[in-house]
Amino acid sequence: QDPRISNISSAIRVIPDFPKPGIIFQDITTLLLDTKAFRDTIDLFVERYRGKDISVVAGIEARGFIFGPPIALAIGAKFVPMRKPNKLPGEVLSEEYSLEYGKDTMEMHVDAVKAGERALIIDDLVATGGTLSAAISLLERVGVHVVECACVIELPELKGRERLGGKPLFVLVSST
Ligand code: PRP
Ligand code: MG
Repeated sequence: QDPRISNISSAIRVIPDFPKPGIIFQDITTLLLDTKAFRDTIDLFVERYRGKDISVVAGIEARGFIFGPPIALAIGAKFVPMRKPNKLPGEVLSEEYSLEYGKDTMEMHVDAVKAGERALIIDDLVATGGTLSAAISLLERVGVHVVECACVIELPELKGRERLGGKPLFVLVSST
């Protein structure tokens, strides 16, 4: 394992019973305060995806908006926000997905990408995989090839990886 990973892992703060009892919250805001760990996080993704002919980094609201843009700039790709409903002003495609309790919707500007482009999807964390699979669907509906999904943290017990229709998932930290 890359020697930078343990430092990244320790910089993530774990908060029990947030936002409700029984949930163990993985707080990446402390990673952002650690300038070396934050830089190493971005570098590890950039090292993996540079030279892979990726023209789109799709970042998922909200925390994919933190990690996605520096990666996009470093690999020479455009950044495309995947947003909560009714936030994007142009023509959008929408995808409904299920959460632990209830449903949510993700939207993407249709003119942000073109069929045949190669995309990387970025978020902070994969739990059940519902969020990433909605982002994959949105991109594939317009003919974009999703090369890989990448997150800082995976909660492997929730088996989100298995919900991605065989798409590869790359994570830095697995939290048990
Ligand atoms: C969290 C996390 C991921 C998603 C993962 O976001 O940031 O985006 O849940 O869950 P899943 O794999 O079960 O779909 P949340 O929906 O809490 O919204 P936020 O990022 O806007 O705070
Ligand atoms: Mg999120």
